[in-house]
Amino acid sequence: MNFLGLDIGTGGSRAVLIDEIGTVLASATVAHADFTSPHIGWAEQDPDDWWRACVSAIRTVLQNTEASDIGAISFSGQMHGSVFLDGSDRVLRPALLWCDQRTEKQCEEITDKIGRQHLIELVCNPAVTGFTLPKLLWVRENEPEIWNQVKSILLPKDYIRLRLSGDKASDVADSSGTLLFDVQNRKWSDEMLRAFNIDAALLPKVSESIEVTGSVSQLAADETGLKAGTPIVAGAGDNAAGAIGMGVTRPGTVSATIGTSGVVFGVTERPSLDLKGRIHTLCHAIPGRWHNTGVTLAAGLSLKWFRDNFGGGKSFDELGNEAEKVPSGSEGAIWLPYLMGERTPHLDPNARAAFVGLTASHTAAHLTRAAMEGVAFSLRDSFEIFKEAGAEISSIRLGGGGAKSKIWRQIQADVYGQPVEILEADEGAAFGAAILAGVGVGAWGSVDEACEKTIRVAEIVEPNQESVQRLDRNYAAYEQLYSALRPAMKIISEDQG
Ligand code: XUL
Repeated sequence: MNFLGLDIGTGGSRAVLIDEIGTVLASATVAHADFTSPHIGWAEQDPDDWWRACVSAIRTVLQNTEASDIGAISFSGQMHGSVFLDGSDRVLRPALLWCDQRTEKQCEEITDKIGRQHLIELVCNPAVTGFTLPKLLWVRENEPEIWNQVKSILLPKDYIRLRLSGDKASDVADSSGTLLFDVQNRKWSDEMLRAFNIDAALLPKVSESIEVTGSVSQLAADETGLKAGTPIVAGAGDNAAGAIGMGVTRPGTVSATIGTSGVVFGVTERPSLDLKGRIHTLCHAIPGRWHNTGVTLAAGLSLKWFRDNFGGGKSFDELGNEAEKVPSGSEGAIWLPYLMGERTPHLDPNARAAFVGLTASHTAAHLTRAAMEGVAFSLRDSFEIFKEAGAEISSIRLGGGGAKSKIWRQIQADVYGQPVEILEADEGAAFGAAILAGVGVGAWGSVDEACEKTIRVAEIVEPNQESVQRLDRNYAAYEQLYSALRPAMKIISEDQG
């Protein structure tokens, strides 16, 4: 039997088909339209565009396989986004995305009403602009004519599930990022729903990530080429699914993934709360396990932004090759990657990005290297918080674009000061979703067993000690820069709305 994982990302939708030993039989990625930003800091996408991309990715994968060989399908997806549907399940407005920063006021309201500490006790996380509840409050307050028609609210991948199976369902890992979920007890939080007067009927039923939630409908079978009746398994948000796809299932193994955002992900046997709210605490896609994540909002996005605006038409590989010729430490150029504000560790939607330390000797190649180093510094902030909480970090696995680029791998080993592991099949969250699909229909006895059978380390990159020392110095400077620049960032962000 084969298993299909679908990842509804920000940049695109990806379909990956694997067999029972983890061989990737086929894969396809179809780009989404870029998110729109009608105001500075806003980020919206059309859910029907995700569906278009998904159908096209599934159809491409099906060119190489029989639909009847697919034993089950599951999902991964960008987290926290809100899809608003009317009584006929029509999309009422573009979805507000994980990186949308418009809800600062709603976050303050949530914190004031519940209390900062009690909020963390109730839902394990502070009010963060990207999370779902503040988005609902924003729409209720600013677009009452839309809100009055809302009959269901879904997370991005769960909208695709609805289109595939007709079921409104979610999973514990993705629901953990809504601020409406009792993460410790793995169910919707009655207290939060009551406090904010949100009708529970608007929300989907929640399952563990490895439970079957429905099957492919005839309508979707006709549209996608999948077989009607193929089981659909709950799946997870992209961080938890990505961790499964990298074999990060037990405490000690930590992943550092650089996609559009950057995520440091560690597993715990119990919810491990950060009362300062700098990192997230969420359910893992494995029953009885949780995870902590630190999030850098503009990780891959930093390099993409740099390339698109200042890269002179060069590819990422060309930019990487040039940056490799610059000494580690970028001769003092430091990048603060706060293009979209920041979560870990600052939780500040008004943070702004900056290049600091420039001299007339710096070239574009220095800035490329500095951008990569700055993103790694930001991920190191999360490692430092994990260590502070007593987490053991026995191995670090890299994922996403940051694992594919040779120079970014080395920069990460040097900034984290530890060897980093690269995996044989770096198929990311869609691969993890395919594993969840297989576990859901009993192909493997557990997620641990599935990962042992399907995931292999291909390479270990050792840190270069000289570079570790130089980057330690730059990190010490980096750590001071946010506080030093904060008053200026506040003025700038206020002036720009
Ligand atoms: C996690 C987060 C991002 C998105 C990206 O909290 O907001 O990693 O899930 O897709």
